Amino acid sequence: MYVRVCFLPNHSTSLFSSKFKPPPPSHPHIVLTPASDDPPPLVASIAIMSRHEPEHTDSGGGLPDVRPTVNSTVIACPTEAAAPPGPRPPPKASSAFPITLKFEEVVYKVKLGQKGWWRSSRTPAEKTILDGITGVVCPGELLAMLGPSGSGKTTLLTALGGRLSGKLSGKITYNGLPFSGAVKRCTGFVAQDDVLYPHLTVTETLTFTALLRLPRSLTRAEKAHQAQQVIAEMGLGNVAHSMIGGARGVRGVSGGERKRVSIGLELLVDPSLLLLDEPTSGLDSTTAARIVGTLKRLAADKGRTVVTTIHQPSSRLYRMFDKLVLLSEGNAIYYGRAAAAVEYFASVGFASPADVGVNAADLLLDLANGIPPDSKYGSETGDAMQREQKAVKEALITAYDRNIATRLKAELCVAELNNYGYAREMVNAMKKEKWCTSWWEQFTVLLTRGLKERRHEAFNKLRIFQVLSVAALGGLLWWHTPTSHIQDRTALIFFFSVFWGFFPLYNAVFTFPQERPFLRKEQASGMYRLSSYFLARTAGDLPMELALPTVFTVIIYWMGGLDPHPDTFLLSLLVVLFSVLVAQSLGLAVGAILMDVKQATTLASVTTLVFLMAGGYYVQQIPPFIAWLKYLSYSFYCYKLLLGVQFSEHDTYECGANGVMCPVVEFQAIKTVGLGRTWIDVTAMAAMLVGYRVVAYLALQHLQRCR
Ligand SMILES: Nc1ncnc2c1ncn2[C@@H]1O[C@H](COP(=O)(O)OP(=O)(O)OP(=O)(O)O)[C@@H](O)[C@H]1O
Ligand SMILES: [Mg+2]
Repeated sequence: MYVRVCFLPNHSTSLFSSKFKPPPPSHPHIVLTPASDDPPPLVASIAIMSRHEPEHTDSGGGLPDVRPTVNSTVIACPTEAAAPPGPRPPPKASSAFPITLKFEEVVYKVKLGQKGWWRSSRTPAEKTILDGITGVVCPGELLAMLGPSGSGKTTLLTALGGRLSGKLSGKITYNGLPFSGAVKRCTGFVAQDDVLYPHLTVTETLTFTALLRLPRSLTRAEKAHQAQQVIAEMGLGNVAHSMIGGARGVRGVSGGERKRVSIGLELLVDPSLLLLDEPTSGLDSTTAARIVGTLKRLAADKGRTVVTTIHQPSSRLYRMFDKLVLLSEGNAIYYGRAAAAVEYFASVGFASPADVGVNAADLLLDLANGIPPDSKYGSETGDAMQREQKAVKEALITAYDRNIATRLKAELCVAELNNYGYAREMVNAMKKEKWCTSWWEQFTVLLTRGLKERRHEAFNKLRIFQVLSVAALGGLLWWHTPTSHIQDRTALIFFFSVFWGFFPLYNAVFTFPQERPFLRKEQASGMYRLSSYFLARTAGDLPMELALPTVFTVIIYWMGGLDPHPDTFLLSLLVVLFSVLVAQSLGLAVGAILMDVKQATTLASVTTLVFLMAGGYYVQQIPPFIAWLKYLSYSFYCYKLLLGVQFSEHDTYECGANGVMCPVVEFQAIKTVGLGRTWIDVTAMAAMLVGYRVVAYLALQHLQRCR
């Protein structure tokens, strides 16, 4: 057994200036809970709680004497008995369970200044983005975060979604437990700048997500049906077969429609906790009301916990919010019932009773910007106005500390008591299987989605033209090279190894840096295993990656007049394709390690130049101390294998006038690399093929852990 002690003050301190200072102990509230990981079935509490009105004294800072009513803050979740009637238990088909989200003293700081090894040794300045934000959102509630641009809404929402890395302190719990895989899978997160695959249609986008995120107890048809229902609910019926577009210069659905697709993707899985960053931005007021209405119904009818940030809501939208957090430069200046916000500001002297009933959001945003309703400065700028704004913001922060923060902290302790039942459901969910779908299902869905998304890119006319024109031009330059022109024949073989050693490398370096935002988003919601994604992504590229070199080889091989024997041709083709796969693997590894297209292409070009020089064709007398370099170059192995396929040790060529024949192994370009020991070359290339891919996979895994 352990004893948990919460201190519930029966009065607020009059000058509770520091938000980090705990309230002074008054009557201890003692909760006895068993010391096991499982939530206790019964909580014995010895609590002496009182909700006496706080005794306020003037701080001396010019603040009015404030006596807010109890209604001005709604803090704790309703108890089981007091819970509003409604289908609180989640529907059977859904794996969702109610979540009480609690955040206490959330502080987030970032270091300002240059990143990287060249940064100065001076300690970089720190900026506080969130300064001790506290609150609780219960199942069935819709909490809105309001505040001017840059006030920290997105940062707080990201922290609540368990997606914020860096210097985050404070406590964020879900039914009293920290963020876990179970919470991740039951959380929907709609980012402010969401990423969607541009070449998929609206239906495809929703259906693929349904296939990946809905539980395996549903059939494919049922999952597709759910996607259709969300399309209807989001009013996307008329654009169901339009491409998403919007990225990489692709025209598609409108910004508002794209936003609705993003919301639909999260509604699809019926999340226990839904976090949305500005879901109504860019929407007309009717559509915005429809979206917020859907969120409200989700909370009220299904007992879900919904948190949304919002810019400038209309009064119609404002009335739908249950709770409100008002932020000003990273500080909370109001937390409580949305309906009581204006009343609260009136009670602290920053609004008049006449303001109750007008569009509250306008007033609140003005206040968060430091502009009281009766400001004599209006929209002017200047030093006097800035001073007034600063004073107003400071006064509001002090008023919050005095009137809300202390009481909020105390009542949060009580809120914990009401949610152990939910915690038990969550622990059960944590014991359940980690993934909604099997590895194979994830692989096939991701492969199909990848092929659909990249069908335009793969059959890119420019790329086809690039390869075909080089093949045709090369074929003309090496047109029917006679066997006696061994120099030209070896040059053609070297050209094969260089072109197909480097062209796929440059294509592959883009793969993971470009996919990163999608991977990050989908991994954050626990949609699939990294291994299924990795294999599907790399396998999806194979058809095109192998089709082009095949066509290229067919053209230039026959035009160049190389050995026409079918076996020789087939073996040459296999070596070229093998080299393509190795080059692709290196490109994937470089891209995954650096995750930056510019840096990755720079490194790729340096590597290709080194491999080119060490490839055994240009420099034939490499000094022994650097000769090992060629063994790192896969184009060296490819070149050697192609020579081995084309020539045998007993072959001769016409090396002088009057039909003088010389053995090909004596020709310098062939002698340097040799013709034997081909299995060593094949093994070395196979090791590179696997090794580079493993490196790429580990780099992605590392990135995922460091996020
Ligand atoms: N990693 C970071 N480095 C530096 N500054 C940051 C970082 N993250 C956030 N900020 C700053 O923190 C402040 C809050 O950012 P945030 O995106 O949370 O604001 P917001 O309230 O969502 O604004 P908007 O309404 O415009 O979306 C901004 O001033 C932003 O520039
Ligand atoms: Mg934002």
